[in-house]
Amino acid sequence: MKKLLIKNIKELVQVTTQNKIAGKEMAILPTIKNAWLTIEEGLIADFGTMENWKGISDWSDLEIIDATDKMVLPSFCDSHTHLVFAASREEEFVDRINGLSYEEIAAKGGGILNSAKKLQAATEDELFESALIRLREIQQTGTGSVEIKSGYGLSVEAEIKMLRVIQRLKKASPITIKATFLGAHALPLQFKDNRKGYIDSIINEMLPIIKKENLADFIDVFCEKNYFTPEETTQILQAGISIGLIPKIHVNQFNSIGGIQVGIKNNALSVDHLEVMTPKDIADLKNADVMPTLLPSCSFFLTIPYAPARELINNKLPICLASDFNPGSTPSGNIPFVLSLACIKLKMTPEEAINAATLNGAYAMNLSHQLGSIAKGKKANLFITKKISSYKHIPYAFGANPVETVILNGVKY
Ligand code: NIG
Ligand code: FE
Repeated sequence: MKKLLIKNIKELVQVTTQNKIAGKEMAILPTIKNAWLTIEEGLIADFGTMENWKGISDWSDLEIIDATDKMVLPSFCDSHTHLVFAASREEEFVDRINGLSYEEIAAKGGGILNSAKKLQAATEDELFESALIRLREIQQTGTGSVEIKSGYGLSVEAEIKMLRVIQRLKKASPITIKATFLGAHALPLQFKDNRKGYIDSIINEMLPIIKKENLADFIDVFCEKNYFTPEETTQILQAGISIGLIPKIHVNQFNSIGGIQVGIKNNALSVDHLEVMTPKDIADLKNADVMPTLLPSCSFFLTIPYAPARELINNKLPICLASDFNPGSTPSGNIPFVLSLACIKLKMTPEEAINAATLNGAYAMNLSHQLGSIAKGKKANLFITKKISSYKHIPYAFGANPVETVILNGVKY
């Protein structure tokens, strides 16, 4: 495998061996100015400042990249997406422009059920091809690892189909992928009057296949009014835990109904959304070890409240930022734009936002030993920016793509 040397890096960003960052520390983003970095066997081999550059021992089979005036960052770690789907939902977008709410659209059969109908009709190959295109897209805006959920199948056959697609994507894409089983994303129409029947199907039909074929890393539930109650969420999470899946859950998007407490009790790795938070929710999070994950591009697209990021940070909590890429609430997996929203709408500083979308994102996928920062021995998943004046330019220049060269597993794209 070819070795890489990146030299004259204006600033090497996020140089740390920590595995997550919380509270006040989130404001610190360790960097090395005027730096070099070497990559061998797909891993970060070494780095330092150009002033102390002693050359390297073996120059054979080495590609040298000059990064004068450019920054190097670890690839973004997007810990929450639904990027396998069959069709976009721009009719609902127009319905919302005309005054309907996301909840009203869902109540009349749109929303997740609309996506499920289309996904059930799509072939595994169609889903695979369209998701691969989305992965290539997010690769170009700096994402190097991503979590992908099922949850648009809502039947045994279609949920398993989605998870098999994610397994194929893991092999086909250079992006590191984690799979989440979200069978409890919505109640399918045919189970409208039989909630228990669908939950039984998740637990007794879907989970055994997932276990047998090793189809998922995490289990998720949409714990929300009109979706799944805290009691149902507990039951489903515990069934997932019993086959080795780790919980990561959708909570407090529209209402605070006790989902955070269910996540904490079941040792969830992350609790995601948090647009609507009570003082008790924040107090409980403070005493727990769970990653609060915020999805500001979902708030932007649905015009719903933004999560109280400053309050979480002031309470010494960590924050992770993710895209929530999905056809209904966030038709974009653009992390540089998520960083802009985090700064503009959540009032996070560029340092806090970058920490949240790199190291804490890796943590929220159980990957911080491998990804999320510049550290010796970590996977060489990083990107070189265009010529920019500072890393603050990334959230500042909203809508622009700062990424020029992507390196994943030590390979240049
Ligand atoms: O995270 N909130 C639940 N699930 C997705 C949206 C799903 C959809 O509308 O298709 C979310 O926002
Ligand atoms: Fe989501």
